[in-house]
Amino acid sequence: MCQHGKIWAMARIFILPLDVEVEAGDDATVMGAAQAHGYYWPTTCGGEGRCTTCACEVVEGAAALTPMGRGEQRTLVAERGAGVLATSVRLACQARVRVRGASIIVRKAGVRAPGQASCRTSG
Ligand code: FES
Repeated sequence: MCQHGKIWAMARIFILPLDVEVEAGDDATVMGAAQAHGYYWPTTCGGEGRCTTCACEVVEGAAALTPMGRGEQRTLVAERGAGVLATSVRLACQARVRVRGASIIVRKAGVRAPGQASCRTSG
């Protein structure tokens, strides 16, 4: 229970370097939790686990995420080499929250706040 008497049922994901926090429901992916709160998360394949564009560093709380599956491993190794498996890199579209109330810290460049302009110019 928190100091206000509420039960922290949802996990919290802190996203660096944007320095924001989002709540994540049961079984939400890291990317899905951010998107559910309106954040833009870089992706090329749309969350199918094929591109690695969504890949993030899990700074803290890796044990609160589902273990890496074979598909995620295959994609990461194919795109970034076998050495990536010795790092804390996860596909944000595949890593799911499995511990209620957990605090997870990830680092992902390119995440943008709702309504934040992109770098692209029009015309
Ligand atoms: S969005 Fe393509 S691998 Fe995650």
